[in-house]
Amino acid sequence: EGPIKIVNLDELESQVAKNMEKGAFGYIRGGAEDELNLNKNTQHFDKKYIMPRVMQGIEISDIDLSTDFLGIKLKTPIIQAPMAAQGLAHKEGEIATAKGMAKAGSIFSLSTYGNKTIEEVAEVSGNNPFFFQLYMSKNEAFNEFTLKRAKESGAKAIILTVDSPVGGYREDDIRNNFQFPLGFANLELFAQQNSDGSKTGKGAGISEIYAQAKQAFTPADIQYVKKLSGLPVIVKGIQSPEDADVVIKAGADAIWVSNHGGRQLDSGPASFDVLPSIAKVVNKRVPIVFDSGVRRGSHVFKALASGADVVAVGRPILYGLNLGGAEGVNSVIQQLNKELSINMMLGGAKNIEGVKATQLYTDKDFQ
Ligand code: FNR
Repeated sequence: EGPIKIVNLDELESQVAKNMEKGAFGYIRGGAEDELNLNKNTQHFDKKYIMPRVMQGIEISDIDLSTDFLGIKLKTPIIQAPMAAQGLAHKEGEIATAKGMAKAGSIFSLSTYGNKTIEEVAEVSGNNPFFFQLYMSKNEAFNEFTLKRAKESGAKAIILTVDSPVGGYREDDIRNNFQFPLGFANLELFAQQNSDGSKTGKGAGISEIYAQAKQAFTPADIQYVKKLSGLPVIVKGIQSPEDADVVIKAGADAIWVSNHGGRQLDSGPASFDVLPSIAKVVNKRVPIVFDSGVRRGSHVFKALASGADVVAVGRPILYGLNLGGAEGVNSVIQQLNKELSINMMLGGAKNIEGVKATQLYTDKDFQ
């Protein structure tokens, strides 16, 4: 427990591998099929270059990471991606993660499949902003019940994840016969009052859980969630420019460019590769969140310079949680902040607006 020493985020994975039960580690680390998409997500940041700049008259103390997103002031452009079942990583689960993100001056997002309730997260968050991520259920009563609680608890936005009508084919989970050891608190709460016989996490596999969720999404679902919650809706899991346009026209307040960290369609492109064409279509109509594969401050820099407004991080946060609880989560964000600040200093951008305005280069520019 406490702050952890980090040299880089990649090295955390091997430390956690020794610390965590095999099935739990496989569920967190793994990607779909051959893990091509998982690996490309990180590797393809290397296709773009940041030009070293000098004579910019910037002191390291001038570097300013603060920004805002949907009217919320943040100390860093790095937020936490919603992740299920955080009790796998730490006994306090989502409570510790929410505390860690609050410490970092950033946003915590609670998954529908979290091990803690929305109310528990609201309580530890105090005045710090948090979001609720919805996996829509086929049972409308669940959606109504849960979105009402999110609104009443003070969530600042709903993240509607639409990229998981089925779970990707994740081989570690099959190999390890992985089942969730703990219940999903928000499913349990609904079941206590209106049992519809559905599974609530404990003792279930990921495919059984996904099978209960809504599969056939249409643009009308965005208005449905907006109406029920009365909150801004961020549509998560966009990779195609066409889909970005469809969801914005349907009323999305923000879009979240993500391929679920390589856990869904293994043959898809790296999330970073699709970002520029999506940003072009979005054309600043709504803000853009980006995730999948971010492990370095330079990756954050490049995503912001390619059209993202904020950048989310997944697995490394659970590794920090496992190794150090709330302080470990904060350590992960601080490590990325440190690397981002160094990249900004060397790349000639003193604030987030400057990073966004920075031109990136490719090999083609040097032929
Ligand atoms: C996820 N992700 C996810 N997304 C979501 O919308 N709801 C969820 O419940 C989950 N659960 C989940 C569990 C675990 C263990 C992982 C690793 C991921 C996807 C997540 O929000 C994010 O898109 C990716 O994790 C980003 O990729 P990186 O940063 O992990 O590479």
